[in-house]
Parts: sequence; C-alpha cells; structure tokens
Amino acid sequence: MPKNKKQKNQAAVNTGKVIVSKNGPYLVSDALPLAKAEIVNDEAGDAKEWNVGKEIMVEDAYALCRCGKSKNKPFCDGTHLKAGFQGVEKQTENHTRNRQSLKQVQE
Ligand code: FES
Repeated sequence: MPKNKKQKNQAAVNTGKVIVSKNGPYLVSDALPLAKAEIVNDEAGDAKEWNVGKEIMVEDAYALCRCGKSKNKPFCDGTHLKAGFQGVEKQTENHTRNRQSLKQVQE
C-alpha cells in the first residue's frame, strides 16, 4: 500500500493505462500522474533532456486531448467531435509500455 505521494504515483505508473480512443482523446486510468514537461536544449540547440515541471492534478480517470483543438488543454473538452478529428495512430502493447517507461524515467 503506497504511503506517500511519490509511492502513490509510482503505483499508478505501474498499473495505469493509456488507451487511444478512435478519433478521440487518450483515455487515462488509475490516476496516472501528469506533469508539464519542457525540452531542455544544449548549446547547439539540440534536445538534451526533459525538465519536468509542476504536477497537474488529475482525477482517477481522465481524457487527454489528441486533436489539439481543446480549449482546456491538456484535457479533452469534446471539441474533437465538432472538428471531425480523424486519429490515425493505433495503440500497441509496446506503445503503452514505452509511455510508462518514459514516465518512470521522468520521476
Ligand atoms: S481530443 Fe477531445 S478535444 Fe481534442
């Protein structure tokens, strides 16, 4: 049983899922932690690392905008329906594992 926020976040990373919905948002479960991150460039302007910023408070389940049209980013506000968003990527098991691994590296 997680004792503190970091342990709780790690538990969520281990169990949380991101599902790519058809022509809609990313559907996130198990209160997978979310934080704003910015790319840090080196002197040559090449991407060097991620600078993880403030954590964004989330519900147990939430939807992340995938169409880029939401007025409540990073969350979906349903605008993709009016915009006729046509998502073309598909979720794979590796995609889910890679995203979870990326989250773990960022913590
Ligand atoms: S995916 Fe729903 S508003 Fe962008």
